Amino acid sequence: MKIGVLSDLHIDSNARRLAPGQTYDHLLAELLYNQEIDLLLLAGDVSSDYHDTFTFLDRMQDHNVSKIQFVPGNHDFWSIRNHEEDTDRIYQLFKERDENPVGNPFLIGKDWAVVGNPGWYDYGFASDRYTIEEFSRKKLKVGGWNDRQYVHWQNNDRAVAAAMQAELESDLSAVSNRKIIMMTHIVTHPQFVIPLPHKVYDYYNAFLGSKSYMQVYDRYPIAHSIMGHVHFRKILQENDTTFYCACLGSARHWYTEDPYIEMAYTMEEIMVDV
Ligand SMILES: [Fe+2]
Repeated sequence: MKIGVLSDLHIDSNARRLAPGQTYDHLLAELLYNQEIDLLLLAGDVSSDYHDTFTFLDRMQDHNVSKIQFVPGNHDFWSIRNHEEDTDRIYQLFKERDENPVGNPFLIGKDWAVVGNPGWYDYGFASDRYTIEEFSRKKLKVGGWNDRQYVHWQNNDRAVAAAMQAELESDLSAVSNRKIIMMTHIVTHPQFVIPLPHKVYDYYNAFLGSKSYMQVYDRYPIAHSIMGHVHFRKILQENDTTFYCACLGSARHWYTEDPYIEMAYTMEEIMVDV
């Protein structure tokens, strides 16, 4: 089975790179067809409004080229047009979709399983020169982290991160007799955040991932670990796990002008025996 790995399409902010008549769902369907991808693991941030992300996923279902497993990224939880503020409800709606792996690992043959969870921020990758209170404001003197305006969990960030880790571990232990492909939106490994000390990321690393999620690699047989969120592209092999960040990211940082070529360049592929 051939698995494609991709994240952070940001179809709204990257729309200006499309030619007239082009759409990201068509381009992605064409890419999956041309690359003969059986299963696409899409690690979040399709758009900045969950309605747009739902429409995109519906269209991908209509194209019916590859199976898709999807975890929402922080942007997919936004409701930038309607300003809906019940993020817990939006998460629940994502969990009710066919592409959702949370609480429902995707089994491949006898030996493999895909486990996924969006994950949230526990602030652990940031410098300890800031307090929890300062992180929870998501705003320094200048600038700020935009989730503070668009994401409204009932609980605080660290409680949400812990609850999602519990969901993740429950799913991991349910399939721990198989080789596991784990997918999160946020970063779960220190090699995928910005090295510290850093003038800006001493603070903003807080919102890139969750340090406590690193524990899962010692506890479960995770052969492949997929993440998104940080908008760079990287592969790392460590111990028995290969880590992937295959973010399309902002068109400002692309190598090419062409969204199809850039997606083809970004998508990673994993072959598993079934
Ligand atoms: Fe993103």
